[in-house]
Amino acid sequence: MNVDVITLFPEWFDWMRRPRHLANAAAVSGLDIRCFSPRDHTPLGQGQVDDAPYGGGPGMVLRVDVMAAAFEAIYGVPAQQVRQDRRVVVLSPRGRPFDDAVARELAALPALTLLCGRYEGFDERVHQELANDCISLGPFVLAGGEVAAMAIIDAMARRIPGALGNEQSLDRESFSPGLEGMVEHPHYTRPAEFRGWGVPPVLLSGDHAAIEEWRRSQVRPAPEGGAMLSSPPLSSQEDTPQ
Ligand SMILES: C[S@@+](CC[C@H](N)C(=O)[O-])C[C@H]1O[C@@H](n2cnc3c(N)ncnc32)[C@H](O)[C@@H]1O
Repeated sequence: MNVDVITLFPEWFDWMRRPRHLANAAAVSGLDIRCFSPRDHTPLGQGQVDDAPYGGGPGMVLRVDVMAAAFEAIYGVPAQQVRQDRRVVVLSPRGRPFDDAVARELAALPALTLLCGRYEGFDERVHQELANDCISLGPFVLAGGEVAAMAIIDAMARRIPGALGNEQSLDRESFSPGLEGMVEHPHYTRPAEFRGWGVPPVLLSGDHAAIEEWRRSQVRPAPEGGAMLSSPPLSSQEDTPQ
């Protein structure tokens, strides 16, 4: 799979070659992440990529001619043809919401281009004439599309077969079809007691059927409206076997 990121800050993505699941996805499935700056391809002087909005108002807008020039330099075909061969996604608060289903959808594609906006975003003709998808990371405004692109690549790449050490973790993790889109049970590890904070006794019981039943009972619908998902604290005296 080839993922191209078009961003004014390509060097920000250097770290993305280091996380293990991304390195695995690169080694096993050939995930290839490339980053390009429109400044390197702008036909305008002094690296100009943006301009003042028609009609006035604050901020600057990323120009369509600059984006078209970048597409043609990177892909070697007329800019409008690029989206015939690959998914071209504008990152924007206006886009369809990113979620686990979209991550799975993108992971199945052979080629993807993520367009990171800055300032007021892209000239509308980039959406209309050059892209064929528009995705939002959530109902908030980021300073630029880079963090959205990183989040999307991260979530998508772990869906690529071979990216994770243990593929089973995908089957029943939060939002997966295995959990019917709900969020998974809490996890605990050693120590069994810390500062009086205990662990559900069933997890220490060695009774695998009971543990499975407890885990199933803890699966919850995803919290809405920013509610925090947490179990009530466990007191060691009441809940943890000594
Ligand atoms: C400051 S924002 C532009 C906000 C835009 N003027 C608006 O009001 O919707 C600059 C860039 O950040 C990116 N961005 C901001 N919020 C985002 C979000 N929720 N999801 C994806 N990208 C986002 C987009 O690429 C956008 O072009």
